[in-house]
Amino acid sequence: MDLTLRVWRQAGPKAAGDFKTYHVEDVSRDASFLEMLDQVNEALNAQGEEPIAFDHDCREGICGMCGVMINGTPHGPQRGTATCQLHMRKFSDGDMITVEPWRAAAFPVLRDLVVDRSPFDRIIESGGYITAPTGSAPDANLIPVPKDAVDSAFDAAACIGCGACVAACPNSAANLFTAAKIAHLNLLPQGQAERWNRTVAMVETMEEWFGSCTNHGECETACPQEISIDFIAWMNADYVRAQFKNPSKTGRDNL
Ligand code: FES
Repeated sequence: MDLTLRVWRQAGPKAAGDFKTYHVEDVSRDASFLEMLDQVNEALNAQGEEPIAFDHDCREGICGMCGVMINGTPHGPQRGTATCQLHMRKFSDGDMITVEPWRAAAFPVLRDLVVDRSPFDRIIESGGYITAPTGSAPDANLIPVPKDAVDSAFDAAACIGCGACVAACPNSAANLFTAAKIAHLNLLPQGQAERWNRTVAMVETMEEWFGSCTNHGECETACPQEISIDFIAWMNADYVRAQFKNPSKTGRDNL
């Protein structure tokens, strides 16, 4: 198929960006979206032009590195699919496709389609871990965990941290990401010791960088792992409980 691409080109964080138009011919319907961009870059390289910068790593939908706005939608038209797993058969011959980086104040553009997602790292650094030494791997059934908790923790742990939730949200909120990262630890026995500290620290770090959630639900629709916004309600409930469970952390010592 032949396509026309409008791609955001920006030489650096402080440079002014603009859309550039590229015509691509003979794109395979079986190519992934990133392979199609590779094809464009090979042509640009051959012409001595700067290739389009875009993030990617696993190309298997698991690392969360890829992610662009395709025709105004994070990761493009196929629900529950990361950009690297999107195939060109979802488009038609002759289509014009607009490709942009995530648009969010907390994710400044570094170059072309690459944004700085380090505020997500700040949230994880503030509490998205377990500090207890775990030793060697214990028997899987040594600590009984209720099936419901296991299933929910696994669903939350599916978050790949791509940032589509932030890009989709009109408030650039990161509540779905933060809620998933909190839930997958707070739901399990191993996560209980630091549950309240973790919840307060991660929510308050999130609030330093990102907008507030007003329940638009765009995040759930854009998420390539289809993480449920129920986790946001669960995080909010844990945050309220943490005010009482952990008064010294929240300045409520006199309760
Ligand atoms: S490149 Fe790893 S999720 Fe797309």
